[in-house]
Amino acid sequence: MLRVDEAQAPVEFSPALISKFDDIVSRYPQGKQKSALLPILHLVQAEFGWVSPNAMDKVAEYLHIQHIEVYEVASFYSMYFLRPQGKFVLEVCRTGPCCLVGAEKIMDYIEEKLGVKEGEVTTDGLFSWRGVECLAACGFGPVLQIGPEYTFYENLTPGSVDTLIAELKAKGHN
Ligand code: FES
Repeated sequence: MLRVDEAQAPVEFSPALISKFDDIVSRYPQGKQKSALLPILHLVQAEFGWVSPNAMDKVAEYLHIQHIEVYEVASFYSMYFLRPQGKFVLEVCRTGPCCLVGAEKIMDYIEEKLGVKEGEVTTDGLFSWRGVECLAACGFGPVLQIGPEYTFYENLTPGSVDTLIAELKAKGHN
């Protein structure tokens, strides 16, 4: 569950970030600034690590649209995080074909290995994990992806998960 202090954390958009928003908005016809909502939410997430309620309100004010319009979009697309996440978010495919080759066992293994439940953040702030729908790599399951580049890791086994987590830990502490 989202903590009150997280939900109410103040958000300020830097002039550099607003300049990026302006650039995106300028690509659309006048009066159609709402079309910039998806890329702006991506920028907000890249800046803050997630899309908080206050950030969504500020985006709505910037675009001169209703707050609910931002909430609707941000909550529809699974690539937007509506709560704080670890630096690395392991998104494991949980759809049928991957489950047939052990995706659920891989999720159980990741949960045990990281010591956090789905959607939680490890105490070092490095990891979160969650199940997601088909990643379109059904012949290579179990599979997971890690944003923001959406790197794929296929044919997962407990051993390859160990290796991946060790590599990410080393990267995360650098
Ligand atoms: Fe897992 Fe399609 S079912 S990638």
